[in-house]
Amino acid sequence: MTPDMSPDTTGAADAFTRFDFAALSPKDRYKLLIGTVVPRPIAWVTTVDPEGRVNAAPFSFFNVLSADPAILAIGVENHDDLSQKDTARNIRLTGEFTVNIVDFANLETMNTTAVAFPAGEDEVAAAGLTVLPGKHVKSPFIAEAPAALECRRHITLEIGPSRAIVLGEVVALHIRSSLVNERLHVDPVGLDALGRMGGHGYCRSGETFDLATPSLAAWRAERS
Ligand SMILES: Cc1cc2nc3c(=O)[nH]c(=O)nc-3n(C[C@H](O)[C@H](O)[C@H](O)COP(=O)(O)O)c2cc1C
Repeated sequence: MTPDMSPDTTGAADAFTRFDFAALSPKDRYKLLIGTVVPRPIAWVTTVDPEGRVNAAPFSFFNVLSADPAILAIGVENHDDLSQKDTARNIRLTGEFTVNIVDFANLETMNTTAVAFPAGEDEVAAAGLTVLPGKHVKSPFIAEAPAALECRRHITLEIGPSRAIVLGEVVALHIRSSLVNERLHVDPVGLDALGRMGGHGYCRSGETFDLATPSLAAWRAERS
């Protein structure tokens, strides 16, 4: 246990409630983390099993972590009996997956692919989705999604018995042509990507604004 560094004498800390994670159950940590770290992007992951059967499922423990190399991460929880979800098993067996971006138009179909279908049952067909073949990976991408990232597994971190973090290297991006211009700017309003909030909450990314970070000189000049 790390001791308090220095006591607060201003009273400002009284406005905060502290949760020490060592004293929390995994479920309570989960509730606090998913409610606090928001909005989280959603990776709508398509994979294939060794027989080539397609699987799809959403994961909001997800983000892109690096551009060079291009690395993204998804956190996949195991089932209660610690067996792997189909997504994790397929990635382990094939080393490949595709992250489709979920827009508001796909809210319901994305949620259908989160239903606990048995392994091998085609969630993509159940959701009424169509898939298009991958260029570099065996996993296809969802034609109804505005964008998709083809990935090869970089490494899987087994961080505990109940969860793995899969790092994937992005080898290709498919993006609806109307959403990207010749300067490689992606239209955030047109993308209409969904974010995941706490509980069963979602948000839309339609309301955006620009704020460039100033250079140190510009920041100082503004204040002088
Ligand atoms: C929006 C959303 C986000 C989700 N995020 C995660 C996640 O980050 N990790 C996880 O293990 N499950 C997550 N789930 C649950 C999985 O999608 C669900 O367990 C799914 O059935 C797994 O499918 P699979 O067995 O085909 O891989 C999420 C579900 C939804 C609806």
